[in-house]
Amino acid sequence: MQNFVFSAPTQIFFGRGTEEGVGEAAKKQLGEKVLLHYGQSSIIKSGLKDRVCRSLRDAGVEVVELGGVLPNPRLQLVREGIELCRSQGVQGVLAIGGGSVIDSAKAMAMGVGYQGDVWDFFVGKAMAQRALPLGVVLTIPASGSEAGGGTVLTNEDGHLKRLAWSEHVIPRFAIMNPELTFTLPAYQTACGGADIIAHVLERYFTNVREVDLTDRLCEAVLRSVIVHLPVVLEEPENYGARAEIMWAGTVAHNGFLDVGRLGDWACHSIEHELSGLYDVPHGAGLAVLLPAWMRYVLEHDRERFQQFAKRVWQLDKAEEGIQALAGFFRRLNLPGRLSELGIDDARFLELARKCTGNGTLKVGNFVPLDTEDIVAILEMAK
Ligand code: NZQ
Ligand code: ZN
Repeated sequence: MQNFVFSAPTQIFFGRGTEEGVGEAAKKQLGEKVLLHYGQSSIIKSGLKDRVCRSLRDAGVEVVELGGVLPNPRLQLVREGIELCRSQGVQGVLAIGGGSVIDSAKAMAMGVGYQGDVWDFFVGKAMAQRALPLGVVLTIPASGSEAGGGTVLTNEDGHLKRLAWSEHVIPRFAIMNPELTFTLPAYQTACGGADIIAHVLERYFTNVREVDLTDRLCEAVLRSVIVHLPVVLEEPENYGARAEIMWAGTVAHNGFLDVGRLGDWACHSIEHELSGLYDVPHGAGLAVLLPAWMRYVLEHDRERFQQFAKRVWQLDKAEEGIQALAGFFRRLNLPGRLSELGIDDARFLELARKCTGNGTLKVGNFVPLDTEDIVAILEMAK
């Protein structure tokens, strides 16, 4: 096990009715004037936006609104949001939604106090030194963004999807009521589930030895998601199962499962290029890439794949574990091939080159991949 520092500073309010306390939480942790940031229409249709606004008003918090975040959030709206925050003098940002809204909110929070262009944070030109405080009302378990410092944004110019990280944008609080996820379409639920599984597997496949406890914690999270995901697809209003998935989404990505180990993250890097170029849902891209990547790197550490097969799927052979994962994604009606996402091989090389910075770097830690490796994985997934 490697040395580590661990902290999970986000205060979580979990369970039925917790969104009623958003006004008080916002007043205490964000300030008296907040930007309410949200997506397209789901929170308006469900009535959540009205309830949140009422709670904020009752607590004496003034609200400035900015909706319209698209899945795979865009830089342009973030730039507009930064100007709005500045001109209105908002003190904090409240995101209501999923990873896309939260990440857009984080980017705005980082950009407000920065003199240069916010995209600088996403291309390694600058590190955020400060940010507006941030709160979240989560409506889809998937990205884990509600309790982490990552933000992923797409620059329409060049279709570049990039990650920035800063401890300053780790949300101060996250309100997580599983009932708010009842309205999720089945496909979004499944995509979210695939993302949660991917966050665990990116950590699970490590070269660091003697990480037994985190191995077993990863396996437990995977087992629980595998059991409860089909249940929520059958019964969208099953509170217990929705609650298990929602908490799994946070635990999978708040750093708890990767203490003392070094994760891989190749599939995430490749997927970000896919959704940057083709605007596919992140979880759908991962569902296609993960099994292909696993087959490609299997011989690097067959024993670890055997452990995955045995402990997660109760199967003997390494290959059977990979097949079981691919079959599970299929049963959730997720795509199994890139062609099902409308992606052919025309831009594989371009995509792989984008991923490796034109061949200047390797991607992933378990098996560092070069441009040719990535093309080979994409070929296996087509
Ligand atoms: O826009 P609305 O109308 O709200 O609809 C959304 C959106 O179309 C809908 N939705 C959300 N909650 C709903 C709902 N529909 C009905 N009922 C509800 N309760 O779901 C759609 C997808 O939302 P989105 O926020 O895009 O989903 P997700 O949470 O999967 O976020 C994906 C984004 O997060 C990034 C991904 O790359 C992608 O851009 N990630 C962020 C990470 C991070 N910050 O650490 C890590 C992840 O690996 C990931 O890269
Ligand atoms: Zn992810």
